Amino acid sequence: MIQRTLSILKPDATDRNITGEINGMIEAAGFRIIAQKRVLITLDQARKFYEVHKERPFYDDLCAFLSSAPTVVQVLEKENAINDYRTLMGATNPASADEGTIRKRFAPSIDKNSVHGSDSPENAAIEIKFFFSETEIVG
Ligand code: RTP
Ligand code: MG
Repeated sequence: MIQRTLSILKPDATDRNITGEINGMIEAAGFRIIAQKRVLITLDQARKFYEVHKERPFYDDLCAFLSSAPTVVQVLEKENAINDYRTLMGATNPASADEGTIRKRFAPSIDKNSVHGSDSPENAAIEIKFFFSETEIVG
C-alpha cells in the first residue's frame, strides 16, 4: 500500500548542514519528498508534538532540543513508507543502528539522532496534519 509518513530532519542535522545528504539517502531508498519546509519549531509545538512522551524523564530535554534550531519537516511517500522509513532511520540509539541507516551514518547520540519518522498510520496522519495543509502536499 502506498503510504505517507512525516519526517523531521532534526536540529543536529540542520546545524551540520547535512540535510541534502540525508535527503539523498531518502530519495535513493525510493521515497518521494512530496512536501517539505524549513521550520523553527516552538517549544509549545514540540511539547504538543511529543506529548506521548510527557511522562518520560527525557521529555523536557527532547522538546528543548527539537525547538533549539531550525528543522526540515517533510512528507515522504512510498509503498510501506511508514515502516520502511523507520528501517532507513535506524535504531533510536545510533550506537545500536544498523549499517546503511541514517542514524548510523550521521547521528552523534540518542538525544541528537538526526531524524524523526512517524511510528504508525494513525500517528502519520496526525503528524502530517500538524505541519502541513493539504495544498502544501503535492504528490
Ligand atoms: P523519533 O520519535 O524522534 O522518531 O524517535 P524514535 O521513534 O526512534 O524514539 P521515541 O521512543 O519516539 O523517542 C523520541 C526521542 O526521545 C529521545 N529518547 N531518549 N534517553 C532515552 O532513553 C531516550 N529514549 C528516547 C530520542 O531522541 C528519541 O528520538
Ligand atoms: Mg518516536
